[in-house]
Amino acid sequence: MTVDEIKKFFIENEALKIVLSDKIVGDYNKISLRPVLVQNKLLFQLERATKTQVFHENLPYLDAINKLEIENFKQILFEMPKKTYVFSIAKNGYRKKIKANNLTMVSAEHNKTKKYLLNEGDDVPIMQELGIFTKENKIVASMYDKFKQINRFVEIIDDEFKASNLKEITILNFGAGKSYLTFLIYHYFVNIKKIKATIIGYDIKKDVVENCNRLAQKYGYVGLKFIVSDVSKDKLFEGKIDMVVSLHACDTATDYALNFAIKNKAKYIFSVPCCQHEINLSIKKGGDYDILLTDGLIKERFSALSTDSIRAEILRACGYSVDVIEFVDFSHSPKNIMLRCKLTKQQKNLENIKNLMKKYNFSQKLYDLITKK
Ligand SMILES: C[S@@+](CC[C@H](N)C(=O)[O-])C[C@H]1O[C@@H](n2cnc3c(N)ncnc32)[C@H](O)[C@@H]1O
Repeated sequence: MTVDEIKKFFIENEALKIVLSDKIVGDYNKISLRPVLVQNKLLFQLERATKTQVFHENLPYLDAINKLEIENFKQILFEMPKKTYVFSIAKNGYRKKIKANNLTMVSAEHNKTKKYLLNEGDDVPIMQELGIFTKENKIVASMYDKFKQINRFVEIIDDEFKASNLKEITILNFGAGKSYLTFLIYHYFVNIKKIKATIIGYDIKKDVVENCNRLAQKYGYVGLKFIVSDVSKDKLFEGKIDMVVSLHACDTATDYALNFAIKNKAKYIFSVPCCQHEINLSIKKGGDYDILLTDGLIKERFSALSTDSIRAEILRACGYSVDVIEFVDFSHSPKNIMLRCKLTKQQKNLENIKNLMKKYNFSQKLYDLITKK
């Protein structure tokens, strides 16, 4: 294919993501394009990366396509809701190959479309109202990453509950936000699994909580409610809890979720942490890994990974079996670690974490909360 033919293909199809890599010539090492909503208008964010800098521009689709500089790259990835194409340079232009994507994978053996819990085309009206699906139940391009996240989250929950004959469940969601996930979890337990579910979503933002309650009422989700709370200090649910979930609950809000789950002996925890600043701000050089604390970027990532390792260790010390798993592909969220935990009652102690904290002089909220008398 020629560059013009590729451009034509791009214009005729709806892109969820385009990535140009493996540079031949030019200033940029990588160029990518993805849909973004800017003041309720669908635009496409062109990201151009040199060796040292990244430039962003939000443009209408055609303008963005025209700025792609296709001819400067050997490899082009074009992701659509159901298919992904890879164009790679060959002798007489580019070769186009189709690559199955994770969302709707075609099985080579059976030539059948793999079903996921929430599929494009499913009639789940709340998903339209939340802006995940269009009126025709197609995925809204700019919500594709969120669609992937909530779908994957509930699939991971489903792995645990597939064979369960549970009749009733109580779940708390910390930092529920607009609650795409909370609504899908409710839909999963009540409509798919036919389990009576009581679900509470906590968020500090009043307007967001009010809107979620309005939607829960409108769609008859009787067991679902949202409460305005600061999870770091407000009194929360006092009954028996089966599961605590959190998806990108900001910074230490994740620690409050984990602490609450531990203290209330929630059997299941599914937690995808968000940004983490605490260790990065307090850690000092002091041992064998000082090299990881020299450069700001590495220090930040090391601190974030340390935070999740410490959380996992604390959960284990409190009787949980913990799997630290990749939640979604990095391209759908850079915050893609999930702590998948189940209360199993083996005990451990926190000595190793205490020693580490002393050696490197950092503090960690979950440790403080768990050890607080
Ligand atoms: C990045 S958003 C994630 C929202 C949602 N879970 C999702 O994945 O779409 C984080 C949410 O945590 C909420 N949050 C942060 N700190 C909180 C606190 N201390 N108490 C309650 N909510 C909090 C914010 O208001 C925000 O809605």
